[in-house]
Amino acid sequence: MHEEAAVLRARRAEVMHRLGAGAAIIPAAPHALRSGDSHHRYRPSSDLLFLTGFCEPEAVCVLAPQHAEHPFVLFVRPRDPEREVWDGPRAGVEGAREIFGADAAFPIGELDTRLPSFLRGAEELHVALGQDEDFDRRVLRAARAARVAERKGISAPRRFGDLALLLGEMRLRKSEREILRLRAAASATRDAHLEAMRAARPGVLEYEIEALLLAAFRRHGGEPGYTPIVAAGANATVLHYVANRARLRDGELLLIDAGAEIDWYTADVTRTFPVGPGFSDAQKALYGVVLAAQRAAILAVRPGATIEKIHALTVETITRGMLDIGLLSGDATEIIEKELYKRFYMHRTSHWLGMDVHDVGGYFVRGQPRPLEPGMVLTVEPGIYVPERAAEVDARFCGIGVRIEDDVLVTADGNDVLTGDIPKEIADLEAISAARA
Ligand code: GLY
Ligand code: MN
Ligand code: MN
Repeated sequence: MHEEAAVLRARRAEVMHRLGAGAAIIPAAPHALRSGDSHHRYRPSSDLLFLTGFCEPEAVCVLAPQHAEHPFVLFVRPRDPEREVWDGPRAGVEGAREIFGADAAFPIGELDTRLPSFLRGAEELHVALGQDEDFDRRVLRAARAARVAERKGISAPRRFGDLALLLGEMRLRKSEREILRLRAAASATRDAHLEAMRAARPGVLEYEIEALLLAAFRRHGGEPGYTPIVAAGANATVLHYVANRARLRDGELLLIDAGAEIDWYTADVTRTFPVGPGFSDAQKALYGVVLAAQRAAILAVRPGATIEKIHALTVETITRGMLDIGLLSGDATEIIEKELYKRFYMHRTSHWLGMDVHDVGGYFVRGQPRPLEPGMVLTVEPGIYVPERAAEVDARFCGIGVRIEDDVLVTADGNDVLTGDIPKEIADLEAISAARA
């Protein structure tokens, strides 16, 4: 589903307003090769989708507010009946104008020759620099070519800005429509996690659980917003475990980190639960610490709070919890000061969430942690990971990994946990386990 034309137009108008005397260039993401001559399914770049809804590869959008006649230009793949038999219809230059509302459109092959003319009169040029060095070079070449007109008194870009900063600010605060998309992603993700929880018996393979997750996402018309992690037992202590090939065993926990992307917006949810009938005492103790930290952190999400503060809160709760259950020993203040907790809690608590799982937007503003505002969406995902062979650690805790992750919308008076209806209380998880047995 595309955004309505009016929404996209308003976003472009805002970019152009903020650009003032500048122009912006937004390229499509490359079509990533999987292996040999086979490609991954194409996922358009979020920035291009956000501003144009255009979802074909090999496209470039130019926003040139100083160009009175053609402030919105699209370079796209031209129609090609032969190729379209294989790959499906293309909008072509006509469609770029008629469907996507471009003031002018050209074949992508004409980008290098035509781009300089759209940069004339712009004093600044904004590009998401550093993402594609080849493209950066092409843009710099076009900016240089535009300077030949300076002798006639027509300015050309001499100052460069990172468009990611500007778009990051815009994408950081979600509109009502975007929040609806995130709710749809959360809802599909809830169905997927529930099905996985009900199916996770001893003997089942991690990829069989992954298959259920993917089936649920696809049934909702979505796909995974990132590769699902389905990690049984000690696999859960590998933060980015994606092999998903091991067999679930009685007595282990299963950690699932999976989120559906629906209409270009993704959820990001982790649940950890017992494969057998219930938690062992050590698992329950560790899980309880993570859950307490997550609850405290979610309670703290409100306008004016910062991700730094929220992280500090989980560090504090997890450190004290690890001392209480005997996973760590020593003095809490010293453990926090020397960051010794990082042995078992080595990642941050939160990231922005939206069209990308690690969404855009600065975490600091002028060196200060950014205060949360209504409309921002972040994850809250503390965890504890005890490696299988950890020296001087009570063996009961070894090989246990727990993370609990929810997606939280900042509201005017607090927050709304978009994924709050996916079970995480110990009693609820044990009830699902009991029903499964
Ligand atoms: N699933 C990626 C993350 O939790 O950040
Ligand atoms: Mn996350
Ligand atoms: Mn995650």
